[in-house]
Amino acid sequence: MCYTVIMNNFDFKNPTQIIFGKDSEKRTGVLAAEYGAKKVLLHYGGGSIKKTGLYDRVTASLKAAGLEVFELAGVKPNPRLSLVREGVSLCREHSIDLILAVGGGSVIDSAKAIGIGAVYEGDVWDFYTGKAEPQGSLKVATILTIPAAGSESSNGSVITNEDGGLKRPCGSDFIYPVFSICNPELAFTLPVSQIANGTADIFAHMHERYFTNVKQVDLTDRLIEAGMRNIIHHAPRLLDNPEDYDTWAEVMWTGTIAHNNLLDTGRVGDWGSHDIEHELSGMFDIAHGAGLAIIIPAWMKYVYKHDVELFAQFAERVFFVERDYVNPWKTALEGIYRLEQHFKRMGMAIRLSEVGITDDSFDEMAEKATAGDSAALGNFVKLDKTAIIKIFKLAE
Ligand code: NZQ
Ligand code: ZN
Repeated sequence: MCYTVIMNNFDFKNPTQIIFGKDSEKRTGVLAAEYGAKKVLLHYGGGSIKKTGLYDRVTASLKAAGLEVFELAGVKPNPRLSLVREGVSLCREHSIDLILAVGGGSVIDSAKAIGIGAVYEGDVWDFYTGKAEPQGSLKVATILTIPAAGSESSNGSVITNEDGGLKRPCGSDFIYPVFSICNPELAFTLPVSQIANGTADIFAHMHERYFTNVKQVDLTDRLIEAGMRNIIHHAPRLLDNPEDYDTWAEVMWTGTIAHNNLLDTGRVGDWGSHDIEHELSGMFDIAHGAGLAIIIPAWMKYVYKHDVELFAQFAERVFFVERDYVNPWKTALEGIYRLEQHFKRMGMAIRLSEVGITDDSFDEMAEKATAGDSAALGNFVKLDKTAIIKIFKLAE
């Protein structure tokens, strides 16, 4: 294959202030006030923050800074549009000026959707169907409790519309949080399944950027390889030592860097696996990371022949596979196999059948993913409906 695409021109700006480390949530109130907040909407999920005591610490910090606090709880994994609409109404009714998301990607994405929805006259779902683009947002800040989605410093939000089971992303520079508090100690209470899902998603954000048709991007190749190695090395350690601060610090910071767009610079990411996975989450409500651990190896098996050399490089540098120079495809396939073994070691399913998804739904998911076979997914290799069904079959 002959490549002519060299490092792309780029603008890079990530405006989110990251406050990283032990006890950093104690600074919440002061930071929110510094960002001009007077009325804060505290947004959170199903109650983990109450069990861990974080809720008490955060509300105390906000009140000590003289801020008026309103609340909206109940964000579910794969955050729902109906709660976003409720949040939009609350923000308008009380003239909220900062939304504080305390939780994981679902809570943060819900807060981001409320932020862009509250300053828009139409329906916030318009931003997720492409009917409109955000023109502004209320300020959003986050306290991260699960290293995974990278939403704490990303310009994206992913929302599920219960009506039709559609999970769709929206990207806009108005969506970056103003600040994010990242204390690795807050992850100590995560169950093993969420450790696995979260670290799979972090890996996936680097995978999506790594497989590109752009050449002469050695620096970002190697930064991504380092991040992938860091996850492969540290994630399994958390299974036996879920309260190991140093390991969580490695994983949490890798999770932020994996998705703050630094690793995109000069290259064009793929994102086909993410788009395919959104159909699994949208239709079957499975966790995003769990879906990715199934889809990514299948996607790799489908596309590796497009650039065997890049897959062999991935195998050699990320999984230390000895390079077979005569048969580089063997090296490539060994790398894919070792990635599957990593996910299995994390206790994850790597086949659709293991999570109860059968070929009855392949056609419908592929149809939805491609809007009736009218829009191809991915950039590394363009995937039409037929290709996506083949990937589902490889993941069966
Ligand atoms: O709701 P609570 O009770 O808080 O429980 C949550 C939830 O059940 C629990 N949890 C979180 N922190 C915890 C904890 N349990 C114990 N101790 C803690 N410290 O974990 C469960 C999962 O939370 P969730 O927020 O859904 O996880 P995650 O961070 O993986 O977020 C997934 C969502 O992010 C989206 C995904 O599509 C998915 O909807 N993504 C967002 C992106 C973005 N905005 O840039 C990019 C990603 O690719 C991803 O698509
Ligand atoms: Zn993801």
